[in-house]
Amino acid sequence: MIKLDGFSSFFVANWKLNGSFKFIDQFIDEVRIPEDESKCVVICPTSIYLDYISHQKRNFFIGAQNVSNYKNGAYTGEISCNSLSELKIDFCIVGHSERRKIYHETNINVNSKSLQLINNEIVPIVCIGETLEEKENGKTNEVLAKQLQEGICYSSNQNNTIIAYEPIWAIGTGLTPSLREIDITHEFIRMHNKRFNKFKILYGGSVKAANSKEIVELPNVDGALIGGASLKSEEFTKIIED
Ligand code: PGA
Repeated sequence: MIKLDGFSSFFVANWKLNGSFKFIDQFIDEVRIPEDESKCVVICPTSIYLDYISHQKRNFFIGAQNVSNYKNGAYTGEISCNSLSELKIDFCIVGHSERRKIYHETNINVNSKSLQLINNEIVPIVCIGETLEEKENGKTNEVLAKQLQEGICYSSNQNNTIIAYEPIWAIGTGLTPSLREIDITHEFIRMHNKRFNKFKILYGGSVKAANSKEIVELPNVDGALIGGASLKSEEFTKIIED
């Protein structure tokens, strides 16, 4: 498994349901990934391109966007941890809010996926976050606490799991919490249980070149999970270069 404590910051590109062979060729050709080995850059294409992109791998890592709850069997359309591991995938996003909302994934699913990933030497990047309504009702910490308690599996620790805080209302909207709000929420996650004290905690939700530096420099933030802006090679380069 990748040694997480060897990196000071993480930049994870979540391409969601975007990309093509042509797009990948062009992106890889254009993106500039700094030689600085303290930065961990992870690209998460759709599963169909994992193998292709891993052959073009330079100084970045590859992540999947999801994995099955199940090891194998009659689960049409699913992809197993074992298959990801055969492709030598190092990271996998789990519990993204789009999966929770559209595909009804629960904290229990997130927990069991993470456990299997860890058993296969793949680092789960566990997404948590509140809706706008929950935020407005002052429920953010309560929601995050439940997601952490139920979703982070017992074998997770700072060496094998990353947490990504993504307020759902900030994803793809251009809205972000204030810097102070981000740092306070990350601190809440870090201090919620002493086992999380040393976890790498990424922020996600409308991260772009114009705001990434100030977000990633916050004391409790260890990097960013980037959606829309990660599809633009120049913008993504600026984010990781900063
Ligand atoms: P965004 O998406 O950067 O486009 O807001 C982030 C994510 O969904 O991980």
